Amino acid sequence: MKIAILGGTGHIGKGFALRLSYKHKVTIGSRNVEKAKASAAEYNEILEKYGSDDKIEGTDNKTAAQNADIIFLAIRYENIPSVIELINPILDKQIIISVVVSMGRDRCYIHPDSSTLMIDVSDEDYNANYFCYSTPKAGSAAQEIAMLLPEGIELVSAFHNVPAHTLADLDMELDYDIGVCGNSMYSKNIVFKLARDIPNLRPLDVGPIETSAMVESLTPLVINIASRNKLKDLGIKFV
Ligand SMILES: NC(=O)c1ccc[n+]([C@@H]2O[C@H](COP(=O)([O-])OP(=O)(O)OC[C@H]3O[C@@H](n4cnc5c(N)ncnc54)[C@H](OP(=O)(O)O)[C@@H]3O)[C@@H](O)[C@H]2O)c1
Repeated sequence: MKIAILGGTGHIGKGFALRLSYKHKVTIGSRNVEKAKASAAEYNEILEKYGSDDKIEGTDNKTAAQNADIIFLAIRYENIPSVIELINPILDKQIIISVVVSMGRDRCYIHPDSSTLMIDVSDEDYNANYFCYSTPKAGSAAQEIAMLLPEGIELVSAFHNVPAHTLADLDMELDYDIGVCGNSMYSKNIVFKLARDIPNLRPLDVGPIETSAMVESLTPLVINIASRNKLKDLGIKFV
């Protein structure tokens, strides 16, 4: 399949590009073509060292998205509106995968429109050292994205809890579960297969896109536990 990774020059994008290039034609997108080409060249050097002659390409986000079957949104939550606006006109039958998590540091912030209690911890020392899930107005990053996409474009939310450095280190054996959320079983099956294309990832169906908040919110939990307990490479595994 042709896979575009928008924000593919970034931390998590690199891991997806490297790992998926073994079985798919991967193009990384960027706001800057030269940056995309430079990252693609760097990734190809890594692949070469591992004996793979699969070639990753780099281009601008829109061109990458236009030519793809699958589009990964590997960008930060706050950059979603501009990137979706950019690709909206060329979306046709591509499946969008969101790995996006809205999280913050310093204070737990829950959208004021949400009925959930707002938590604002004021102990500065403690606060400085942990992440919180920042609940988007729609409930999750995936639901926000769904609202921005043209009708008929299918969205799957997945891969939120995989650490970027582990994914990008081809020496590392992965052993993680991947929660997959989406409204279309057809699209979810494609994402299950993509996850299985990366050795030792086990995709698990979580439910419709409305369940994405549960999976997204595990990411700050994993990061907090990892950093406080010095557990590198922590992810999620259901046993
Ligand atoms: N890091 C992880 O371990 C991890 C794990 C799971 C999920 N995620 C999720 O994956 C997403 C990306 O995380 P990341 O750590 O890979 O982020 P990142 O490295 O900080 O950023 C990814 C890419 O976003 C692009 N970007 C920066 N500013 C932008 C803007 N204003 N508009 C459009 N694009 C912009 C940059 O690409 P260009 O400059 O080339 O355009 C950058 O390389 C996040 O939503 C995160 O929650 C991350």
